[in-house]
Amino acid sequence: MSEPQKNRRLILERRPQGIATHQDVVLREGVVGTPGDGQILIRNHFFSIDPAIRDWMSERPSYLPSIRIGDPVRSTVIGEVLESRHPNFTPGQLAVGIGGWEEYSVADGGYFFPVELQPGDEEQQYLSIYGAVGLTPYFGLLEVGKPKEGETVLISAAAGAVGSLAGQIARIKGCRAVGIAGSDEKCRWIVEELGFDAAINYRTEADMVTAIGRACPQGVDVYFDNVGGEILDATLLNLNKDARIVFCGAISSYNSTEPVPGPYNFWQILARSATVEGYLVSDYLDQFPGGIAQMRQWVSEGRLQYREQIVDGLENTLDAFNLLFDGRNEGKLMVRLPR
Ligand SMILES: NC(=O)c1ccc[n+]([C@@H]2O[C@H](COP(=O)([O-])OP(=O)(O)OC[C@H]3O[C@@H](n4cnc5c(N)ncnc54)[C@H](OP(=O)(O)O)[C@@H]3O)[C@@H](O)[C@H]2O)c1
Repeated sequence: MSEPQKNRRLILERRPQGIATHQDVVLREGVVGTPGDGQILIRNHFFSIDPAIRDWMSERPSYLPSIRIGDPVRSTVIGEVLESRHPNFTPGQLAVGIGGWEEYSVADGGYFFPVELQPGDEEQQYLSIYGAVGLTPYFGLLEVGKPKEGETVLISAAAGAVGSLAGQIARIKGCRAVGIAGSDEKCRWIVEELGFDAAINYRTEADMVTAIGRACPQGVDVYFDNVGGEILDATLLNLNKDARIVFCGAISSYNSTEPVPGPYNFWQILARSATVEGYLVSDYLDQFPGGIAQMRQWVSEGRLQYREQIVDGLENTLDAFNLLFDGRNEGKLMVRLPR
């Protein structure tokens, strides 16, 4: 009888308090599992390193259940199907979906989609520009923000994977795009390379209410919010009547150990007849093919640029993940496993 194949996995040993540490997420060796009915066995090629994973590590109620202690850290992955007991998959296919930080995942086939690479495609693009992260600003801005030509769209975490695309899509739709980011280099990049109209470095501005007012002299019509917290509060005082807030993320609070205060200026939602809409890209799954086709067209026309940052090795996954929370990531962050 042959030895069961080894599977290195990053296990959630305990719930992090603040930034996740190597005591919270521990590398353990197990064996590769066998898929049951409706499941697939996938050999992971890339992990998508997303801020939301920090939320899933906690016990806060969320849109997915908390990761159980003792389970591998949950993550969107792309890889090769090795075995399938799900009708949508055959061995040898590429698939993208919800797996874990481990070399091999046994997963519910219902949470995976087959991937057919088109000529010139690279696999990891299905975690970045042609994956959920690329489609997050697409549906969030267009379906929730509903920007009209000539309006001002303000974006936080604007040099990140989601934010950098949100600003470029706003420009494509004829809007004024203003980004908020955490360094002068990031601000320069989004204005000079991506075509944003203005940028604000929130780390060097003492008064964000005034800084947003200066960068958005006509007021803010759409706020694409990736961070929540004080930046959201400052934006509320700059909203135009009938403004729309796309509540996409709140990364400023994902590592908080205390209850998050505010927003203190929430009254402005009423005062300006504004709307705030919580938004999940997964609500648009059935529209993904159309969204990907549009993103492809804009990329091929040179109207959308994006950055990918690939870190090699399972053992480097947690350190890579923590880059998200102090702004050291440059674009869509992914971990690549050797093949
Ligand atoms: N709703 C959905 O369906 C959906 C889907 C995907 C992602 N998201 C959300 O979208 C947001 C961006 O995700 P992403 O994958 O594109 O990550 P990202 O923007 O590429 O990386 C995170 C960035 O957030 C900024 N940041 C970190 N801590 C911050 C803080 N305390 N205050 C302000 N900015 C902070 C950092 O940039 P700076 O240097 O600028 O600080 C960092 O580079 C996250 O909130 C994520 O949860 C939502």
